[in-house]
Amino acid sequence: MYICICKGIKESDVRELGQEAIVCPKKLAETLGLDDKKNCCGRCIKNISKFVEIAVEEVTLQKSPLMG
Ligand code: FES
Repeated sequence: MYICICKGIKESDVRELGQEAIVCPKKLAETLGLDDKKNCCGRCIKNISKFVEIAVEEVTLQKSPLMG
Protein backbone atom coordinates (compact mmCIF):
# COMPACT_ATOMS: atom_id res chain seq x y z
CA MET A 1 0.00 0.00 0.00
CA TYR A 2 1.32 3.41 -0.95
CA ILE A 3 1.69 5.82 1.95
CA CYS A 4 3.34 8.60 -0.04
CA ILE A 5 1.85 9.43 -3.38
CA CYS A 6 4.45 12.02 -4.39
CA LYS A 7 7.42 9.70 -4.03
CA GLY A 8 5.72 6.35 -4.41
CA ILE A 9 6.77 5.15 -0.95
CA LYS A 10 5.06 1.97 0.16
CA GLU A 11 4.34 0.79 3.67
CA SER A 12 6.70 -2.11 2.96
CA ASP A 13 9.54 0.39 2.27
CA VAL A 14 9.09 1.85 5.74
CA ARG A 15 8.89 -1.64 7.25
CA GLU A 16 12.23 -2.48 5.63
CA LEU A 17 13.77 0.58 7.26
CA GLY A 18 12.33 -0.54 10.59
CA GLN A 19 14.07 -3.88 10.08
CA GLU A 20 17.31 -1.91 9.70
CA ALA A 21 16.49 -0.15 13.01
CA ILE A 22 15.78 3.16 11.30
CA VAL A 23 12.93 4.45 13.42
CA CYS A 24 13.61 8.06 14.35
CA PRO A 25 11.56 10.66 12.47
CA LYS A 26 14.61 12.62 11.26
CA LYS A 27 16.42 9.54 9.96
CA LEU A 28 13.29 8.14 8.31
CA ALA A 29 12.64 11.47 6.57
CA GLU A 30 16.26 11.73 5.41
CA THR A 31 16.41 8.15 4.17
CA LEU A 32 13.12 8.45 2.30
CA GLY A 33 14.09 11.81 0.80
CA LEU A 34 11.42 13.73 2.67
CA ASP A 35 13.83 15.91 4.58
CA ASP A 36 13.08 19.28 3.07
CA LYS A 37 10.31 21.25 1.48
CA LYS A 38 11.67 20.65 -2.01
CA ASN A 39 11.34 16.90 -1.53
CA CYS A 40 8.05 16.78 0.34
CA CYS A 41 4.64 18.29 -0.38
CA GLY A 42 4.19 18.62 3.38
CA ARG A 43 1.81 15.74 3.88
CA CYS A 44 4.46 13.17 4.77
CA ILE A 45 6.43 15.38 7.13
CA LYS A 46 3.18 16.28 8.87
CA ASN A 47 2.44 12.57 9.26
CA ILE A 48 5.96 11.36 9.96
CA SER A 49 4.75 9.91 13.28
CA LYS A 50 2.75 7.35 11.24
CA PHE A 51 5.95 6.34 9.45
CA VAL A 52 7.65 5.97 12.84
CA GLU A 53 4.76 3.81 14.08
CA ILE A 54 5.12 1.46 11.10
CA ALA A 55 8.91 1.22 11.47
CA VAL A 56 8.70 0.62 15.23
CA GLU A 57 6.12 -2.14 14.68
CA GLU A 58 8.71 -3.93 12.59
CA VAL A 59 11.38 -3.63 15.31
CA THR A 60 8.90 -4.92 17.89
CA LEU A 61 8.04 -7.91 15.68
CA GLN A 62 11.71 -8.78 15.27
CA LYS A 63 12.22 -8.75 19.04
CA SER A 64 9.22 -10.97 19.70
CA PRO A 65 10.27 -14.33 21.15
CA LEU A 66 7.57 -15.95 19.01
CA MET A 67 9.39 -14.82 15.89
CA GLY A 68 12.54 -16.66 16.94
S1 FES B 1 2.61 12.53 -0.21
FE1 FES B 1 4.61 12.17 0.47
S2 FES B 1 5.77 13.89 -0.16
FE2 FES B 1 3.75 14.25 -0.86
